[in-house]
Amino acid sequence: MLMDEPPHEGTTSWSPALSRQKTLSRYVEVETWKRRELTDLQPVMSGIESACRGIATLVRRAQCDEIAGLHGSGGDTNVQGEVQKVMDVLANNILAASMCAPGKMDYVASEEEEEPTYCSVVLQNAAFRGEYAGVFDPLDGSSNIEAGLPVGTIFGIYRRPELNMSPNRARDPLEAIMQPGSKLLASGYCLYGGQTILVLTLGQGVHGFTLAKPGGDFVLTHPDMRIPDRGRLYAINEGPSLQWDPRIAEYVRRLKLGEGAGNVPHRTAYVGAMVADVHRVLVEGGVYAYPGTESAPSGKIRLLYEANPMSMLVEQAGGLSTTGTARILDLRPSSVHQRVPIFIGSKEDIQDLQALLKEGV
Ligand code: AHG
Ligand code: MN
Ligand code: MN
Repeated sequence: MLMDEPPHEGTTSWSPALSRQKTLSRYVEVETWKRRELTDLQPVMSGIESACRGIATLVRRAQCDEIAGLHGSGGDTNVQGEVQKVMDVLANNILAASMCAPGKMDYVASEEEEEPTYCSVVLQNAAFRGEYAGVFDPLDGSSNIEAGLPVGTIFGIYRRPELNMSPNRARDPLEAIMQPGSKLLASGYCLYGGQTILVLTLGQGVHGFTLAKPGGDFVLTHPDMRIPDRGRLYAINEGPSLQWDPRIAEYVRRLKLGEGAGNVPHRTAYVGAMVADVHRVLVEGGVYAYPGTESAPSGKIRLLYEANPMSMLVEQAGGLSTTGTARILDLRPSSVHQRVPIFIGSKEDIQDLQALLKEGV
């Protein structure tokens, strides 16, 4: 008998090897049990897991269900003036509802919303106050949707800092999410590509879990991810390179030719979705960068929803992440939708940039 999918529990050909595989939910259960400050994260992670399953299904059906296009009459934009797709809005609503539903989050802040949203509003329970605050980019790389190319979801979770001071202190929805990224308790992404992969850090290493079948478990496929110290690829949109600081152009020239300390020529590999590009860098090594330009000195990548969670993951995997002059995770945010230039990836590739910026060209 030909099968579209490998056999699963309940079928006569159930494979014992498959049943021994570790799942995301089991990993989170064990880790949150071991560490007191993470205890209540388990249901939140389970909400995120189900949101990723749901968004993966929508992404797969986007063309057939005619939800691949623009939101509203086509002119709807988010607070940053970017055109919103139907899928941006759907993914945003799914993620906010799934993160809030277990009753452990106080508020969530999204790239697609002007201000943080109280979970008490989402849950319609005015008395409700959770312990955590979440940040997310619900659909990263959404310009890839029409072409059926990879997209992703990025998330990060903080503990509300005022809880460390007094339980009765008035809550401020900006207080938790405006912390430096170094205060993140957890971060991760879901990549909706050839497979759906959820990559997670709870602050002690990075693990990747692949969705075994639609609606099924996320199975551990990438245990203890370590980014190679030196890579062989760079993921950078070079379209605006004439507007870069000449030292950045020089860095990219050296990457191509392998003129850095490692003497390794790097090839170009650019998907145009940070999740997909950083995932490849995590697996193979190399650099993802979105530098500033003359007209947009801070570049395009958002500190809270994209740069910080990805930087935590990459640092946990042994890599580095910088604006060029400052560690991303040390930045104290100045606004909710702040953008930052970013260079993230293999330790030695990033150190070459830091050395070049110090030496000047
Ligand atoms: P988003 O779709 O969430 O707005 O993010 C897109 C970002 C990032 O994922 C990607 O690396 C970058 O924009 C691509 O931008 P360019 O098309 O300018 O290369
Ligand atoms: Mn994005
Ligand atoms: Mn987005």
